[in-house]
Amino acid sequence: MAETLLRVAGLSAGVADKTILHNVDLEIARGEAHVLMGPNGAGKSTLGHVIMGDPAFEVMEGSILFDGADITEKSPTDRSLAGMFLSYQAPVEVPGLPLYTFLRTICQMRPELKTTARKFREEVGALADELDLDQGLIMRELNVGFSGGEKKKIEMLQLLLLKPQLAILDETDSGLDVDALSIVSKGIEAYRQRCDGSLLVITHNTRILERLEVDRTHIMVRGRLVADGPASLIGEIDAHGFEHYECELGDEA
Ligand SMILES: Nc1ncnc2c1ncn2[C@@H]1O[C@H](COP(=O)(O)OP(=O)(O)OP(=O)(O)O)[C@@H](O)[C@H]1O
Ligand SMILES: [Mg+2]
Repeated sequence: MAETLLRVAGLSAGVADKTILHNVDLEIARGEAHVLMGPNGAGKSTLGHVIMGDPAFEVMEGSILFDGADITEKSPTDRSLAGMFLSYQAPVEVPGLPLYTFLRTICQMRPELKTTARKFREEVGALADELDLDQGLIMRELNVGFSGGEKKKIEMLQLLLLKPQLAILDETDSGLDVDALSIVSKGIEAYRQRCDGSLLVITHNTRILERLEVDRTHIMVRGRLVADGPASLIGEIDAHGFEHYECELGDEA
């Protein structure tokens, strides 16, 4: 059996006066691709953020283990340095911080990615070409005034640059045109091939999954993982939606 990379056990989390995630159990093995689906507001993004240690959320119960270590109390920076990555559903704009400086700084923090300035520039340039990104974006302020599609592609560029062991992609496909969707799908494929990384793909759109071999699909409704199954579950959701799971959950808050 493949080695477990991420183990979320009995996780309940939320904000001060509100529990959003209820008793979530999730295991992702090294090299596996998992998909997380669920209706709007189910708690999918919250789960991604809590796994990554976003201080906006409080863990009320349970634990998160990554690569054998308990990281429940670790900072987002420590989790990132350990090999975890989250691409934001709504990437944040950071005025005053050039994208190039940001990329160079996060890579310099990782001994395995340290390289000369020239080689780094070449690598970033090659990735921008691969993602069909205007090279001019690299010197602009991080995400400031970027189009929705450009922001999502910059998240992909970071993924391919950092080569994390686990990537959580939160609706990386939303707002992309047909060509951009194809480029981002190829980027995900490249990530899988180049670093044999594990994936948790949060999506409403099954087109992004066409190029991806999915090992497991999870369904979240009202902060609970209510079902999981093989890749074929995605087709069932596409055809029938989440109503059946909502009904099964009944009146539970
Ligand atoms: N900081 C916060 N404070 C209060 N409520 C929050 C906070 N963050 C998220 N929530 C609430 O938690 C619930 C789950 O939100 P979340 O963004 O995780 O849903 P989602 O499954 O990602 O939905 P979507 O498919 O629309 O992206 C929502 O009701 C949301 O309003
Ligand atoms: Mg979301």
